[in-house]
Amino acid sequence: MRAGLACLALVPALAACEGRQSVLDPAGRDAAVMAELFWWMLGGAVILWLLVNGLMVYVSRLNRDALSVRAATLLVVGGGIVFPTVLLAVLLSYGLSEMPRQLAPGTGLSVRVTGELWWWRMEYLPEGAETPVISANELRLPAGSRSELRLGANEVIHSFWVPALGGKTDMIPGRETRMSLEPLEPGEYRGQCAEFCGDSHALMAFGAVVMEPEAFREWLEHEATDAAPPATEAARAGRAVFLAEGCGSCHTVRGTPADGTIGPDLTHLAGRTTLAAGVLPMTADALKRWIADPRAIKPGARMPGFDHLGDARLDLLAAYLEGLE
Ligand code: CUA
Repeated sequence: MRAGLACLALVPALAACEGRQSVLDPAGRDAAVMAELFWWMLGGAVILWLLVNGLMVYVSRLNRDALSVRAATLLVVGGGIVFPTVLLAVLLSYGLSEMPRQLAPGTGLSVRVTGELWWWRMEYLPEGAETPVISANELRLPAGSRSELRLGANEVIHSFWVPALGGKTDMIPGRETRMSLEPLEPGEYRGQCAEFCGDSHALMAFGAVVMEPEAFREWLEHEATDAAPPATEAARAGRAVFLAEGCGSCHTVRGTPADGTIGPDLTHLAGRTTLAAGVLPMTADALKRWIADPRAIKPGARMPGFDHLGDARLDLLAAYLEGLE
């Protein structure tokens, strides 16, 4: 009993479960349903626990003659079997009744998300569009509508999860899985791969940005454009380094000869909230650190290190990439 009360005392600790990557701090319809379900389940479990243990203590302390066998049986069967069964059945049917909405197809925007080692390929297909807008490592969605996510993977199984927006869904090579999300509140959240997928599984994250519909439409229009030409001398020199070092054989920067598709599309890299799939901030210093030695930051990463370029040329590269907004 004392241990149980100690557990109950820990419930307020759940109040710490808030923030950009918390299921208990929902910003989407599906996450809100799940958070509500969690609190109902927790409440039900606490009531059951107290009831069953309370009954056990009560019955074990009874004087043999104080209660008829019939009354004791009724007490134990009612409290130990019937009540828990009814309570669990109510909670189960409540949970199941919410499932159809979570499995409903999206309307309007569709995003194809592909799990790579260890980053995310994002392809946005607005309603009626023929060709997707290609991006990476950041999911942007309009608030107030249900968007469709078509999930896939190369090489190994990953799992797509933005806890603040909804449930998680596995991404399986050679197969397309689907889910839909209905974000409600504009803001910046965080997604995380939720299936162990190798060395850098824990470092496979992404920014999830929910925008007002009009701002989202403008962002997507901009994302579809080619990269702007470098605006400074350093950025121009940086682009020359980028092309001379063969970065374009793995990365695409639309509007330049760089058209590789092995690594993330960098056309509007600097417009993203994070670098290297949610691991680093989008700053010049982080860009330099990443390019110099990606595997020191993300073990097993496919990208080779470019430490040999030296500080001056890394500065130029960072200046070029920082300008890709
Ligand atoms: Cu991808 Cu874990």
